Amino acid sequence: MNAPDHPGILNVKAEPQACGVAAPHEAAHLHVSGRALYVDDVPEPRGTLFVAPVLSKVAHGRLKSLDASAALAVPGVRRVVTATDLPAANVVGAGHDEPILPADLIEYLGQPVALVVATGAKAARVAARAVRMEVEPLPAILTIAEALAAESWVLPPVHLAEGDVEAAMAAAPHRLQGEFAMGGQEQFYLEGQVALAMPGEDGTMKVLSSTQHPGEVQHWVADALGVPAHSVQVECRRMGGGFGGKETQAGHIAVWAAVAARIAGAPCKMRLDRDDDFLITGKRHPFLGRWTVGFDGQGRILAIDLMQAAACGFSADLSGPIADRAIFHADNAYYLPAAAIHSYRCKTHTQSHTAFRGFGGPQGVGMIEAALDDIARHLGLDPLAVRRINLYGDAPRDRTPYGMQVTDNILPALIERLEADCGYAGRREAIARWNAASPVIKRGLALTPVKFGISFTATMFNQAGALVNVYTDGSVTVNHGGTEMGQGLHTKVCQVVADTLGVPLAWVRITATDTGRVPNASATAASSGTDLNGRAAEFAAREVRDRLRAHVAGTRGLDVAQVSIRGGKVLVPGAELDFVAVAKAAYAARVSLWSDGYYATPKIHYDHQTMRGLPFYYFAYGAAATEVAVDTLTGETRVLRVDILHDVGRSINPAIDLGQIEGGFVQAVGWLTSEELVWKPDGTLATHAPSTYKIPTSGDVPADFHVALWPEPNREDNVYGSKAVGEPPFMLGFAAFFAIREAVAAARREQGRTPLVPLSAPATPEAVLRAVEQ
Ligand code: MTE
Ligand code: HPA
Ligand code: MOS
Repeated sequence: MNAPDHPGILNVKAEPQACGVAAPHEAAHLHVSGRALYVDDVPEPRGTLFVAPVLSKVAHGRLKSLDASAALAVPGVRRVVTATDLPAANVVGAGHDEPILPADLIEYLGQPVALVVATGAKAARVAARAVRMEVEPLPAILTIAEALAAESWVLPPVHLAEGDVEAAMAAAPHRLQGEFAMGGQEQFYLEGQVALAMPGEDGTMKVLSSTQHPGEVQHWVADALGVPAHSVQVECRRMGGGFGGKETQAGHIAVWAAVAARIAGAPCKMRLDRDDDFLITGKRHPFLGRWTVGFDGQGRILAIDLMQAAACGFSADLSGPIADRAIFHADNAYYLPAAAIHSYRCKTHTQSHTAFRGFGGPQGVGMIEAALDDIARHLGLDPLAVRRINLYGDAPRDRTPYGMQVTDNILPALIERLEADCGYAGRREAIARWNAASPVIKRGLALTPVKFGISFTATMFNQAGALVNVYTDGSVTVNHGGTEMGQGLHTKVCQVVADTLGVPLAWVRITATDTGRVPNASATAASSGTDLNGRAAEFAAREVRDRLRAHVAGTRGLDVAQVSIRGGKVLVPGAELDFVAVAKAAYAARVSLWSDGYYATPKIHYDHQTMRGLPFYYFAYGAAATEVAVDTLTGETRVLRVDILHDVGRSINPAIDLGQIEGGFVQAVGWLTSEELVWKPDGTLATHAPSTYKIPTSGDVPADFHVALWPEPNREDNVYGSKAVGEPPFMLGFAAFFAIREAVAAARREQGRTPLVPLSAPATPEAVLRAVEQ
């Protein structure tokens, strides 16, 4: 496939620099021509069987009996696997609290109870529907309110207090109580969850998995098969989107495929149909926030007492760190002099909710933004003025509730620039005039900031490894522990390696993520893929480069410092050598042309007991101004114009960063306006397909969409001076939501109602209508 794609890649005219260039995605030419291989596109080995799950039809109950006879009679069906057939311990999950297949207790509607293994995917699915189960129902807890009342938790509540909240609240000139709920969100990766498990010799298993975390899949599969980790190899070339939904959830599919493969003694593929994917796998956590906030006449927060409750579903999964991140982002960009935060991790009988872009951050941000919005309306002030006055500033207004000093705050300057560039003040006046003259269509404008903490909050995950191989023809492969899900990680890593080695970008090829090459890699998550793997790859490339430089220096009697490599040329005083010739010569002189690299984020630490420390290496910042129109008769909303100024540090790839910012924003607007998950009283997820669950499409991307990058490198020593970009822009979508609230407030004022807008998320047309009229 190489030749037609890259005619003579080694002769391509070299860009002097790869980093900072808007290079195309490393697989763009494959994506657009349908030739990029996803797990389901890889030709199946001869004799591959297909696995379909048998789903529970009750939310909570005891499994009394299971009758597979009708399923076994379906032509092509080989086996029906249940809990009693499993080769090793029946436990899985990030919290080690989930069964692979329940033996007795069923805990959500849609939980896979058995697996049908057949010669074809269709036969397996048809047969799965023929399996009969007798289940004794138990009472199910489905909502946060029910869980709070029953004190039903997946993990114990967590309380964080900073300052004397009671005294500061009592002394505050104004106090307000408020509430803000946020719905869940389906990740809706275009490529559904899929794994192909292939038994090898001597008890080994190779798994192709669409996963953000091959290392965890390796461990789960090894445990499920009762073999050491060295007997399981997990590979992922790319995902068709993950968005957090394949951080842990991919592991279940891989485990089901692998146990089926072990039991059937044949390769097994499991690919979830979209409806089953909706029903089985976890989503963004729905959250409820309730607060009492004390503030002064300018809207400056003096104290806040905040309750955060998350619907976690039936198991812990990542709910602990997700609810923690909601606490870490309860301040968003604002100084809270006295704060008490109470975090409840509610156990509900639904899918086990999991990572989704922002990882609890958006839910934390939503609450404080709603509180500031209420404060502004209560005092009759411009919400932007209230947001601005609460921003972090100089000491003592620079300490987060978890004791971290904010030292890199650029928001006051960034907001000022965005405000000027988007014409905020003039447009706000124009909108007021428009609203006065327009009885039905109301407009609103909001400007909201984000400050997002970069690093895994569990300090140990902030490490990465990479391998860089230089071949004797000068071509290069790089392999690292991170995974590609469309976010451009592999492209950025290739750019970093190209510049570090001093070769053209076209010479560098990335290879599939593979637990057999780089072990013990963290999930590609927390937006830190490039920070961690990019640095590890940089270190590996530096090692090889310096060996080449030392070799050349040695043969020419030069100092190493006199040898540099750039654009595929090795530069020495008075001469320019060909990189390929140098690589060949170094090989002949028995110099190793490959190296590993390892990186661990410096400085960070966090104590879970005291809830204090420096959990984040740095913050990524941004702000968005968004104007919307709301039809107050139908509740429909439309985003008219978006202006974003976002901080990616020194951009490794401006095209990719722009895509991340636009995509994150639009995905958040979907979460906050049109995507609504509805569970029926029996626990059925009613919205389990695009027919009933509305994600944004290209038609929902605002036509008037301006994105600019903040022109300053990361102040911390990070790869190329860049900042992480994957998740932070998601939080900018709140600008659209709060613009809708502005428009609704205009309608309410006209009708003589209180200007406080009783609108939670998602702001579906029904919810907007209720908010106008309530
Ligand atoms: N962008 C695309 N196109 N597809 C994805 O699945 N996932 C997001 C973000 N951007 C995602 C994406 C999430 S949840 C994270 S944590 C980061 O990418 C992960 O990749 P990174 O650490 O390399 O930024
Ligand atoms: N972000 C995303 N994924 C994670 C994290 C985090 O902070 N911690 C564990 N998995
Ligand atoms: Mo992203 S939610 O950290 O996978």
